[in-house]
Amino acid sequence: MNTDDIVRTFLDFYRERGHELITGSSLLPPPSDPVLFTTSGMHPLTPYLLGRPHPQGRRLVNVQRCLRTTDLDEVGDLTHLTVFDMLGSWSLGDYDHPQSLRWGYELLRDGFGIPREKLYVTVFGGDEQVGPDLESLDTWRELGVPVESTRDENWWSNGPVGPCGPDSEIFYWTGDGSPEGSPTSDSRWVEIWNHVHMRLERGEDGGLVPLPQVSVDTGMGLERLVAVLQGRRSVYETDVFEPWVRIVPTLWVLGERDMRIVCDHLRSSIFVIGEGVRPANTGRGYVLRRLIRRVLTVLWRDDDSRTLSDLPVELVGTGTEREVLFDEERRFGQLLERGRRVLSRSEFRGPLSEEDYHYLHDTHGLPREWVAGLLR
Ligand code: ALA
Repeated sequence: MNTDDIVRTFLDFYRERGHELITGSSLLPPPSDPVLFTTSGMHPLTPYLLGRPHPQGRRLVNVQRCLRTTDLDEVGDLTHLTVFDMLGSWSLGDYDHPQSLRWGYELLRDGFGIPREKLYVTVFGGDEQVGPDLESLDTWRELGVPVESTRDENWWSNGPVGPCGPDSEIFYWTGDGSPEGSPTSDSRWVEIWNHVHMRLERGEDGGLVPLPQVSVDTGMGLERLVAVLQGRRSVYETDVFEPWVRIVPTLWVLGERDMRIVCDHLRSSIFVIGEGVRPANTGRGYVLRRLIRRVLTVLWRDDDSRTLSDLPVELVGTGTEREVLFDEERRFGQLLERGRRVLSRSEFRGPLSEEDYHYLHDTHGLPREWVAGLLR
């Protein structure tokens, strides 16, 4: 199955069960929204999870492009991406959570051909405020899928306030040979799908009240699912990253982790620029600036003659994206020139303190990684 087949299988499965396909929203939420980027498929649906009727009904399905800055430090591993597509399904006060779990399992088994032995699920084990999610525990047991309870891992919310609830996270065994351990004890269990029982709302005071309707919100990272179904070790080895991982290694010799960061950050930058964002020192522009500057820091660590103008049209096109990238490269190059002069001052000889790093970053805009590299 290629990526298109996988998306179609997902959407068809839910459409056959009465779900309406809704158009994915922009990566940029409306100005009234405090969040910088859309971080999950449920985010644009928040008003409907809070009880407003959705014009397309109570059963919905879509593909939503998301950006998570919370995952930035993990990018470079096998599974985390800055920008990714999320396959989502919703019951807005319609069918219950066990139904969502049963359909989820059916789709993984019959639609995607994943054997039960390769799956493991975690469910909410309860805390001071909310009791354990026994209903989900029982449902997974009935389905014959191994399940374990956790305390903190199985609670979903999109922010400090708003709709939230306990969730079931479905993991896939990515190791060689027979599955071992469980998701909390072995990182070769990789999370692929989350089914949230959206039944509570957290208020400003931290308290929880029941939502006027009980909903289900599910989200599955497309790139990870593709990697799993195509039997690839990482999301970068799937057709999603064609032509990036074919072309980038021919331009620059990079270690595997650096190559992944460069591909992820450039691809994400292009999406963000395409949404009209420009590099800046605050807000969304700052996220974009960080992405581009991190790429340049990685590239220039070994060879400062490397330039984004080496990128072919096949990757960056000929339009605005290209111009924005080059412009930011020029600015960053000038900043580092000034940075070199600052660092040559006598006070920066010898090992630097935490305070020095903060000063160089906050006052001169110099990334820690770059300073450390230069001093080495
Ligand atoms: N909103 C849930 C998530 O993003 C489904 O994991």
